[in-house]
Amino acid sequence: MILNHLGGFMSVPVADLLPRAGGESVTCKFFQELVNILIGYIFKSNERSSKILDFHHPHQLKEGLEGFSLDLPDHPEPLEQILVDCRDTLKYGVKTGHPRFFNQLSSGLDLIGLAGEWLTSTANTNMFTYEVSPVFLLMEEVLLKKMQSIVGWSEEEGDGIFCPGGAVSNLYSILVARYDSYPDVKTKGMCAIPRLALFTSEHSHYSIRKAAALLGMGSDSVQVVPCDERGKMIPRKLESSIMEAKAKGLVPFYVNATAGTTVYGAFDPLAAIADICDRHQLWLHVDAAWGGGLLMSRRHQVKLQGIERASSVTWNPHKLMGAPLQCSAILLKKRGLLQECNQLCAEYLFQSDKHYDMSYDTGDKTIQCGRHVDVFKLWLMWKAKGSEGFGSQVNKCLENAEYLYEQLQKRDDFKLVLESKPEHSNVCFWYIPPSLSELPPGPDRNRRLHTVAPQIKAKMMEEGTTMIGYQPLGSNVNFFRCVFSNPATQQEDVDFLLEEIARLGYNL
Ligand SMILES: *Cc1c(COP(=O)(O)O)cnc(C)c1O
Ligand SMILES: *[C@@H]1O[C@H](CO)[C@@H](O)[C@H](O)[C@H]1NC(C)=O
Repeated sequence: MILNHLGGFMSVPVADLLPRAGGESVTCKFFQELVNILIGYIFKSNERSSKILDFHHPHQLKEGLEGFSLDLPDHPEPLEQILVDCRDTLKYGVKTGHPRFFNQLSSGLDLIGLAGEWLTSTANTNMFTYEVSPVFLLMEEVLLKKMQSIVGWSEEEGDGIFCPGGAVSNLYSILVARYDSYPDVKTKGMCAIPRLALFTSEHSHYSIRKAAALLGMGSDSVQVVPCDERGKMIPRKLESSIMEAKAKGLVPFYVNATAGTTVYGAFDPLAAIADICDRHQLWLHVDAAWGGGLLMSRRHQVKLQGIERASSVTWNPHKLMGAPLQCSAILLKKRGLLQECNQLCAEYLFQSDKHYDMSYDTGDKTIQCGRHVDVFKLWLMWKAKGSEGFGSQVNKCLENAEYLYEQLQKRDDFKLVLESKPEHSNVCFWYIPPSLSELPPGPDRNRRLHTVAPQIKAKMMEEGTTMIGYQPLGSNVNFFRCVFSNPATQQEDVDFLLEEIARLGYNL
């Protein structure tokens, strides 16, 4: 339908897009058509009856589908084809903004955020120096200060930077923590410092082991602390694990606590962990990549009590707060460390004789050189919603999780993985097909139950009506994990999800 008007572009070469003599009208027309395609996609994403995906295997996409080819041409293609390429790219992708997409912690399509992304790309600049990003760097400062005050730090405390995702934010926390204890490591390397130990819960995202390997400490330096049945780190076990590491000759320096684990959405007892860190003088990092959003809600922020005692915090607005990917911040309590730890004073960027306040040349705080502008969309969303708007958005996501939890309690064909009420918007459960409902608990039933979720997921991908992830965890065989971060999702979508799983799995 949208493509009906594209005919006017037949044979118009891309070169005419340039706004030189006469180019304006082509440029306007092209962008109007593009906007039609994007708006059409947005409306479709919000139509409950439309499919979330039109699944194709990699070989099918590589072979090319009706007018859509991945191959790169030697000759320029006309604008009409370029628009078709845009349309088809969206067509064969996944509508992560659909209210029935539950597959990832990042979902939804915030329209103000989208406008912010578009403006960001239009400005097309780089975050390394004030001379090329004056407005965006000041916005970053405003956002970081706001987030630090929400975490509970004082005016005199607080530093940080937006980085490419939570895994990188976590990497920064270890890098800076190590530098804080052993500044020589920057110039002399690992041979100048003792063998270190870092601590994290057994439900940790794998990124901590990756970071330890990358930073030259080795993934074996990561000590895994047991969790209780709800996925919370057990403080007593943390303390014994610290003692054991010391006995082995390792030097503990860093504890990673989690506010909102990836699978169960569990919150570690931050205050108790902070007490232990104080006693042993360890750096406390709180990974609130997923749980940080709860700080925006008056009703739910108490779950992060103690976070103000952290030395560093990871917080991903691209998850629960719905900012478009990517948007993640590492917040550090102690000012100046980040700069000291990373700066190398490259003369071609950070000339020491500039005529403005060079504290805004934050590029030397990072491990990158250039850095994408991730802040504008978040700043704009904050303007449009206010802090309260984020709060109600978060409340809505958690209400959906409670609703799902209540529905699951009522049904015999589903079983909750955790009996307790969800703390975050994660709800984990099994579907039990009739063929398994009579089997006694035991290895045979578990072995069969393990195959149920993947089979349902495979059918779901083919049908494209909804999307949800599954995984095993510890001794629990494959189960579904539903997560809510799209405020467009309603109770009817939750009902639909359960009916769809039961429909696809009934005959297994
Ligand atoms: C998602 C997540 C991460 C990783 O964040 P990315 O932005 O995907 O790199 C780290 N920790 C936790 C707890 C997460 O949920
Ligand atoms: C800390 O734990 C969380 C989840 O439990 C994990 O996502 C993160 O990668 C861990 N590592 C670091 C370095 O923060």
